[in-house]
Amino acid sequence: MTDLHLPLDRSTGRLAAQIAAGFRAAVRSGRLTAGTRLPSSRDLARDLDVSRGVVVTAYEQLTAEGFLVARRGDGTRVAPLARPDEGAAPRPDAPPRPRDPEPPPPYDLTPGRPDLSAFPRERWITAARAALRTLAHDALTYPDPAGVPELRAELAGYLGRVRAAHADPDRVVIMNGVAHGLSALLALLRAGRHTALAVEDPTSVRQLPMLASAGVRIVRVPVDGEGLDVAALARSEACAVLVTPAHQYPTGVVLSPARRAALIAWAREVDGLILEDDYDAEFRYDRDPVGCLQGVDPDRVVLLGSVSKSLAPALRLGWAVAPPSIARRLREHRANSDLGAPVLEQYALTEFLRGGGYDRHLRTMRRRYRGRRDALAEALEAHLPDATVRGVSAGIHLYVELPAGCDEDEVVARAAQEGVAVTGARTMWSAERAGDAPPALVLGYAGLSETRLVKAAELLGRAVTHGAEG
Ligand SMILES: Cc1ncc(COP(=O)(O)O)c(C=O)c1O
Repeated sequence: MTDLHLPLDRSTGRLAAQIAAGFRAAVRSGRLTAGTRLPSSRDLARDLDVSRGVVVTAYEQLTAEGFLVARRGDGTRVAPLARPDEGAAPRPDAPPRPRDPEPPPPYDLTPGRPDLSAFPRERWITAARAALRTLAHDALTYPDPAGVPELRAELAGYLGRVRAAHADPDRVVIMNGVAHGLSALLALLRAGRHTALAVEDPTSVRQLPMLASAGVRIVRVPVDGEGLDVAALARSEACAVLVTPAHQYPTGVVLSPARRAALIAWAREVDGLILEDDYDAEFRYDRDPVGCLQGVDPDRVVLLGSVSKSLAPALRLGWAVAPPSIARRLREHRANSDLGAPVLEQYALTEFLRGGGYDRHLRTMRRRYRGRRDALAEALEAHLPDATVRGVSAGIHLYVELPAGCDEDEVVARAAQEGVAVTGARTMWSAERAGDAPPALVLGYAGLSETRLVKAAELLGRAVTHGAEG
């Protein structure tokens, strides 16, 4: 019965338990399927060199647990209900399970992800350990729904220093990322007088379903080379606007100084509210990042940020910096909906910020991303000379307008055949403007080395040439 793989450790005794465990594992992994007839207790005892009583005990145990059925005259079989574990490795002859994930493409340029392999695991462990070691028992109760005070204080200092925000701890509310902050704010807008929200055109598709289901009217406002068209916003019915001033998503333009002033003037004029999505503002490569709008008018602007692009989206840690009345209502919203964010992660981030780990990580990643962006932009120029890279040198993605006449979908499909996953820009535009928007791709470069980005650009060049021909 060597094919049953029932290794026994005779030094520890409990042979019946070991045999039973071996059978359970064989059933769970799918090596033994329902209906399979097992050797008689006598034969198995001989094969394993144990007494027959040991095997009988193991079979009885497994029968009692429902793994085996024993019938007179039919021997002992694997029970029909004994199913392999969901997570078990498939047998070599088993057909692929439909839920098996697709293997990742060799060159994945899907935007929105930082370099996940660079997550500072060791330093995060150190921060988390320090937090856990020093935390009072009482800190493990339900937290302040606005976030633990220590993190709000650290963030207020950091955002003031790095983003020129006007951020005292009372204005800071910890959220599970920008998306969470936005959906909570939309709930407040819906309940108040701001029932129409202006959103940039184009914008992040990931946010569109949330915006669509938020119960507020969405008004799309065009973006041009200077960012959001504030004159068009002023002509709309909206009194609230969601905007990405530091680095427009996806076009990569920066809101010009004149437009920043006009946007603030608009908000004052209509008694409006600006929701500032600061999603990757720490990464500017050609100069220091532009300070956030919230610092200019903290009573009209809510700053939304997170560690999703700076550390990892999986942490689901973000913040809103809001006028005191809105901060209070956001806190209430958390108290009434989910009782606040996980405490240990909040303290780990506090330690990480306090010990300088966050600043150090950002410095490292800025250098690395700058190299990757430059390598990709240069390679695109070489392999796609008729394409145009839009936007400033910043962030973790590039917006590339394809040569006129290219079929965007065709290019995306052909790139996939070459092993390069890219995202077309068309779905990021409103239906009214998508037709006039030049074909374009949004390329996330954060997770690939410079060498691999150069290769990806070469393959993309091939896909575009074929796409244009097709
Ligand atoms: C422009 C933009 N802002 C915000 C988010 C959401 O970020 P978070 O992970 O902080 O919720 C996304 C998600 O991809 C995004 O594209």
